[in-house]
Amino acid sequence: MTSKVVISFAARSPRSKEGLAVLLAAGGAKFGDSSGEVDPGKVVEKATKVAAFTGKALATLDVLAPGGSPYDRILAVGVGEPSAVNALSWLKLGGAIQGQVKKSAAVTVYLQAPGFEIGGAEAAGVALGMLLRAYRFDRYRTKKDESENGDEPKNIVVTIVTAAAAAAKKAFADAETVAAGVTLARDLVNEPANKLGPVEFAASAKELTSLGVQVEVLTEKEMKKLGMGALLGVAQGSARPPRLVVMQWNGGKPKEKPVAFIGKGVVFDSGGLSIKPAQGMEDMKGDMGGAAAVTGLIRTLAARKAKVNAVGVIGCVENMVDGTAQRPGDIVTSMSGQTIEVLNTDAEGRLVLADGLSLAVEEAPDAIVDIATLTGAALAALGPDMAAVIGSNADVVGQVEASAAAADEPVWELPLAADRYRKLLDSVVADMKNVGGPYAGATTAAIFLSEFVGDVPWAHIDIAGPMNVDGDSGWKSKGATGFGTRLLIDFATNFTPVG
Ligand code: BES
Ligand code: MN
Ligand code: ZN
Repeated sequence: MTSKVVISFAARSPRSKEGLAVLLAAGGAKFGDSSGEVDPGKVVEKATKVAAFTGKALATLDVLAPGGSPYDRILAVGVGEPSAVNALSWLKLGGAIQGQVKKSAAVTVYLQAPGFEIGGAEAAGVALGMLLRAYRFDRYRTKKDESENGDEPKNIVVTIVTAAAAAAKKAFADAETVAAGVTLARDLVNEPANKLGPVEFAASAKELTSLGVQVEVLTEKEMKKLGMGALLGVAQGSARPPRLVVMQWNGGKPKEKPVAFIGKGVVFDSGGLSIKPAQGMEDMKGDMGGAAAVTGLIRTLAARKAKVNAVGVIGCVENMVDGTAQRPGDIVTSMSGQTIEVLNTDAEGRLVLADGLSLAVEEAPDAIVDIATLTGAALAALGPDMAAVIGSNADVVGQVEASAAAADEPVWELPLAADRYRKLLDSVVADMKNVGGPYAGATTAAIFLSEFVGDVPWAHIDIAGPMNVDGDSGWKSKGATGFGTRLLIDFATNFTPVG
């Protein structure tokens, strides 16, 4: 999906002033110099008093048809105190601005506020926030005027006025590679399962070849040869064959070991014979959010020619009910050779990841990070706004936490506690069961995964909660969030091997 927002940067205010003007207000509702030409009648200043607008961070004040102004609307947006601002503030500011654009098709953002030093990186952050918030998945709406967001303009032209216009332009070129990665991830998640099966997902990943990514797509036959019985067991109930995609971005030194990223790519999770209730099952078209984030990550790394070596492995399968579907009680042999008693066919993600992890281990990576919409338990524990992180290595978990904070994609660590709870996976007839009972579900899922990572430092991110949102907020737009994409981009870019 191409963005509906076109952004440019200018050092001076545009000659033709129309539509919406955005003014920043520092704490105490203090405006910069541009307010003179945008609001010669000081209408906004008056309005701040009536509306008790104090310039608090992300507070907004909308003034319609301001007398004496060339603009139709002026939006005041608070930036608060300079001391409370960090890199993320600008991304959030962009999201807040975009959230107030409403029917305006032309937007001029005057990026200045007394006491603030707003450079190129900050301006690009605002632009990225606007782009991400403006995202809409409307590919299948043939009558857009009747749609939920039908009153939105089709295209929005944004001019960001900033003293750092040249630096902003440069920083924005990089931010656009991030936006493209997140957009790809969101599109993949929003795409319904009838349109995006495993083969289609793989084809979409294959398109990254044009950016210089080496993409290998394994078919069922090749997976059989590798002994991927865990993944194949999940896939066997679907009329659509599975695909395993390996994406290699080698932008680093040839001798440098890669970091491996594994994504759960269940294009639809009906639960299999352990079928899910009808209520909410439609959300399971997004059960490939982890694979989408990994694909988005690789796209961004390639587009920005990142000097890192990264390998992305995504297992694309559909979990369905059929005469051929795997049954509770079946025993499968994973690529690692370990056998698994499948007691619940709805605990399919870990089966798919298991063989993906084994393949990744063969690349001898410095670290492995997997990301998956894995458990309702993670959602129950942490709610819809944050992901769970669980790992075998405190350093890698720490780097995930740092990247999560930098990306505004929060994670909270849950324990692996294998010494206590590994026994919950003990099986009488196989090496392990695929479920660990009613308690500590996110943890027992992670313990299961830990059996497949060997000695490689590893962290697992469970995004069952934040993969979707019900409504627009911050840099997120309703539906798929692309959660994890920017976290992984930051992680891959700043990764330092554990000592
Ligand atoms: N895809 C689901 C997890 C999920 C739930 C993702 C809600 C997003 C929102 C996963 O495959 C699943 O069904 N997990 C089961 C595991 C259980 C059977 C041990 C779950 O969490 O209920
Ligand atoms: Mn499931
Ligand atoms: Zn699932």
